[in-house]
Amino acid sequence: MTELDLIIDLHKRAERQGPGSQRDTLRALSFLDFPPDKEIAVADLGCGTGGQTLTLARELNARITAVDLFPEFLEILRERAAAAGLKDFIYPLQASMEELPFEEEQFDLIWSEGAIYNVGFERGIQEWKAYLKPGSYLAVSEITWITDHRPDEVEAFWNREYPEISPASRKIKQLESNGYTLVGYFYLSPDSWLDQYYRPLRTGFPAFLARHEQSEAAQKVVEDHRAEIEFYEQYRDYYSYGFYVARKN
Ligand SMILES: C[S@@+](CC[C@H](N)C(=O)[O-])C[C@H]1O[C@@H](n2cnc3c(N)ncnc32)[C@H](O)[C@@H]1O
Repeated sequence: MTELDLIIDLHKRAERQGPGSQRDTLRALSFLDFPPDKEIAVADLGCGTGGQTLTLARELNARITAVDLFPEFLEILRERAAAAGLKDFIYPLQASMEELPFEEEQFDLIWSEGAIYNVGFERGIQEWKAYLKPGSYLAVSEITWITDHRPDEVEAFWNREYPEISPASRKIKQLESNGYTLVGYFYLSPDSWLDQYYRPLRTGFPAFLARHEQSEAAQKVVEDHRAEIEFYEQYRDYYSYGFYVARKN
């Protein structure tokens, strides 16, 4: 089993694969304005096992194309959608954000929680705009500095991991320069990182290690995740996911 297979095995059993919560999804949805009688076309990019997809399907009158690179996540999304009686509204699609098989102006809403970083924020907002109808919406969460100053070690870590990290003011400017108008912004609370994402993940460590017979590779995956969680706990006052909701001009 490769390290990637192990990471997928650890994450696929979790409610979600990144920081976020139903409360955050609902809050971002509250900035949108669609006529209730109109069925809209939605793309949920980097959907994982569907933490947010099920909420979107419940709240919107929509047909949702739920895209992820990994079939293992989509399989669980399929099961969850069926169990929730939502499978007629959710269409899982295995595809890469690097090469999306969409047509111009296909969607009324593009949603992406904790996943635009896979192509990078600037590239994502530029490329995805083509798939949006004029006047339609983009809603993405993205790693963001939440203070003006921070310790050198957290700055160095994130500049190495994801150099596109920046304060919300810069991300909003990028949206504006690329033909969007911001309609809403907030950032995720520690509860969305710890209670909704890291704690359930950590609870799964013993079973994960048992499934993989305490292998060295499995222990390394757990150690890497523990280090990530400790780093967040230490520096949570400086970064979070910002949730950006914007309208295509
Ligand atoms: C941090 S997780 C977020 C998942 C989900 N949106 C959530 O918040 O629970 C990032 C997701 O992006 C997916 N992903 C990674 N690279 C991708 C790519 N090139 N194209 C599509 N999805 C990708 C991963 O499989 C994963 O499900």
